[in-house]
Amino acid sequence: MIATSYSGMAVDLAFLRPVMPYHHVLVDVRESPFTIDFDTQVPYDTYVRTDTLHDLQHPLSEDPGEMSFLMITQVMELYFKLIAFELRGARERLRADDVWGAVGTLRRTALHLEGLNASWRGLRWMTPAEFNRFRTRLGEASGLQSAMYRRVEFLLGLKNPALIRPFKRKAGTYGELAAALDEPSVWDEAGALLGRRGHDVCDPAAVERAWVAIYASEDRETRLLGDALSEVAEQFGEWRYQHVAAVRRAMGHKPGSGGSSGLAWLERSMAQVVFPELWSARTHM
Ligand code: HEM
Repeated sequence: MIATSYSGMAVDLAFLRPVMPYHHVLVDVRESPFTIDFDTQVPYDTYVRTDTLHDLQHPLSEDPGEMSFLMITQVMELYFKLIAFELRGARERLRADDVWGAVGTLRRTALHLEGLNASWRGLRWMTPAEFNRFRTRLGEASGLQSAMYRRVEFLLGLKNPALIRPFKRKAGTYGELAAALDEPSVWDEAGALLGRRGHDVCDPAAVERAWVAIYASEDRETRLLGDALSEVAEQFGEWRYQHVAAVRRAMGHKPGSGGSSGLAWLERSMAQVVFPELWSARTHM
């Protein structure tokens, strides 16, 4: 194919031809390799429940930015659920003295946390002016009232009983969270496992000495458990850091819709350490 360029030169456009002419690309559905004969629902929808999933987005304003805020919050809620599920699995494995099983589950948890953390990118555009366009519509709604996030925190051993108070009139959730507060955390089960392996874990100082000893020893299995726990703690810390950064960016020091002072309260909450002796032990190694 010959065409004339801007400069008037003749140019051979053969190299721009499609690899296959279109009549080769068209597919004859009678010969298609995939199944097309379904009832009202395709099996994908039945499995993924797409109808339910895509019926859950109801922004409260006309502002187009609210859709990212709402959907990213929903995506994060789903991740909290997946992470709580994995942490319960890791706790089971530790209780059963299956260290390799626990390491595998904790590594998967850390990868899900990475996926969760990547979701923050979708909110980086939001300045106070943009957040203000729909913020008042949220009323008193706040992530502080996320029961699934509290489950994740409790499983990690961050247990502040005051934080289940918003649910006190929601009997089922309140009861479940109160029970979760009393259950051993992943960290409690890791400590119990060390105890069964001959370490003294009678108090935090002893737990710290146990981790110093493990990292100085040839006990590769328990060291890898320590590494997998560290990765989970760091990735969870990354979520909290990114959240604080998003709050600072989108609303500065204004009070939170959930009734807290906002940034100052979140910074105090972020200072609570996940798996504390795993970190303090490092000073003595
Ligand atoms: C830029 C967007 C966001 C802002 C400005 C913001 C603001 C805040 C503020 C001020 C608090 C303190 C509690 C209060 O409301 O008084 C809070 C807590 C919280 N928010 Fe957000 N948030 C944002 C995005 C998100 C998203 C997308 C999620 C995902 C579910 C989320 C989950 C949480 C959770 C779980 C807490 C409790 C944290 C804790 O207990 O330490 N936030 N948020």
